[in-house]
Amino acid sequence: MFDPERFSLENRRNINASAYVPFGSGPRNCIGSRFAIMENKTIIFQLLKRFNIVPTEKTEIPLKISLMHLNVTAKNGFWLGLKRL
Ligand code: HEM
Repeated sequence: MFDPERFSLENRRNINASAYVPFGSGPRNCIGSRFAIMENKTIIFQLLKRFNIVPTEKTEIPLKISLMHLNVTAKNGFWLGLKRL
């Protein structure tokens, strides 16, 4: 469930560091993680600057998580509409 307070300064110490490890962990973890996060933030920023992200008839609500992948991803893809601002 989306909880905007999950990453607040007060709650940070309650997060289980092993619950979500998209970049791996330990001495061989992803060397490009900071770059990748920056790239993703740039993409999201550029999208939100130009578009409203809206559900379409193909958008699955609630989203079904794939059990066939090692990483967390959508079972039937991410389907979203872009409405130019
Ligand atoms: C969203 C994007 C990315 C994800 C989810 C991701 C994820 C991962 C994961 C899971 C590993 C294996 C970690 C482990 O074995 O514990 C890894 C390794 C690695 N990643 Fe990424 N990565 C991303 C982007 C990048 C980028 C942008 C670069 C380079 C510019 C990069 C370079 C590397 C390298 C060189 C390794 C091997 C590190 C080693 O074996 O010492 N990755 N990545």
